[in-house]
Amino acid sequence: MSIMQGFERIVRQREPLAMHTWFQLGGPAEYFAEPENVDELIALLRRCQEEDVPARILGQGSNILVRDAGVPGMVVRLSSPAFCGVGIEGRTLIASGGALLGRAVTTSVHRGLAGLESLIGIPGTVGGALHGNAGAHGESIGHWAFQATVVTAGGEVHQRGSDEISFGYRSSSLDDLVILETRCELEKDDPHELAQRMQKHWIVRKASQPLGHQCAGCVFKNPRGMSAGEIIDDAGLKGTRIGGAAVSERHANFIIADADCTSQDVLRLIELIRGQIQDRMGIELALELEIW
Ligand code: EPU
Repeated sequence: MSIMQGFERIVRQREPLAMHTWFQLGGPAEYFAEPENVDELIALLRRCQEEDVPARILGQGSNILVRDAGVPGMVVRLSSPAFCGVGIEGRTLIASGGALLGRAVTTSVHRGLAGLESLIGIPGTVGGALHGNAGAHGESIGHWAFQATVVTAGGEVHQRGSDEISFGYRSSSLDDLVILETRCELEKDDPHELAQRMQKHWIVRKASQPLGHQCAGCVFKNPRGMSAGEIIDDAGLKGTRIGGAAVSERHANFIIADADCTSQDVLRLIELIRGQIQDRMGIELALELEIW
């Protein structure tokens, strides 16, 4: 591991990524690192750049499918406490990129700050949520975020203000490698009422989505004005199976993986769904799931 000399304490080789993703599928990362602080992260990214090793950031793995062959280069996970802080200052939520989105949501609600409560139950990290502008029930995190501290692939730290960040449906302009921290300006509200609203959102989500299964959120983005789940359901594809991968009976925009499933099964099922929806309805479904 000579090109990672000096980082032996935090870098592992051929780390299986299946155990780091919600799908629990896919091959290993060539290199895998969990730096303990920002300085270590920056030094690692600089080394990767010097050595031409491409780097990616893995959050909770709740929106990705790793191919069976695995991932070349470096996969970095921001699991150390230094990257997972959540705090409140006045009406501002300050959340680190590696913190769980759920923790950011419940912390805001308990402190009587409204805005993020409908995001309860969305898995993943704050960084991942901001990168893909995660949302539910017409609300999304980007609506509230006014600042992000990022680290570039070259290891430079920048602060991006609201004039530099734009959000779209399940997308953001934040394409820097690492989101270290974000600040969201929220609205004062009654903590008790907020907690009740959050609970309602949680109940709706639990009833309509296959939580607790081996799956990774919605596979496709909703085409403008339509629900991908409804389209796939209308096409009669619920329950369709390839190998160990099946379209969820509860919500057709979810793919459930059995214990014997491979990433290739999921990829083939995705292509089958796309092909059928294109041929029969003339609709092109775009992936929300990231394929590594
Ligand atoms: N529907 C069906 N069959 C299905 C699924 C849905 O007929 O199999 C119908 C529902 O009955 C409802 C409509 O489609 O009338 C919309 O369904 P739902 O409320 O579940 O919303 P969605 O458009 O399918 C979006 C987000 C979800 C988010 C929910 C709730 C996308 C791709 N999906 O789903 O987000 O939780 O709204 O706000 O934007 C995600 O992004 O990973 C995700 C799960």
